[in-house]
Amino acid sequence: AKITFITSDNESITLEGSSGSVMALAVENGVKGIDGDCGGVCSCATCHVHVSPEDMKKTGTASEIEADMLELDDNADEFSRLCCQLEIGDHLDGVVLRVAK
Ligand code: FES
Repeated sequence: AKITFITSDNESITLEGSSGSVMALAVENGVKGIDGDCGGVCSCATCHVHVSPEDMKKTGTASEIEADMLELDDNADEFSRLCCQLEIGDHLDGVVLRVAK
């Protein structure tokens, strides 16, 4: 699946991945602003992204534990996801994720 990240510098980076989490793909490729400090266990929020509104149907909304984590982040909104919780697959092809500040 092709996944596009928009960094806080407005740089657009499109990466191709076939498995693993979106966070791991971003970290492996050095996407600025995605740190993945907790290693993908939904407990740090350094992988916070805002999904494009029209892509929410592809990503779905945050799980309960993920939403609890996002609640602690002032920049979270209804399009927020922790991208370690997004498993790469064909369903995510073409999504655009804005890296949260
Ligand atoms: Fe820590 Fe996603 S990497 S919450």
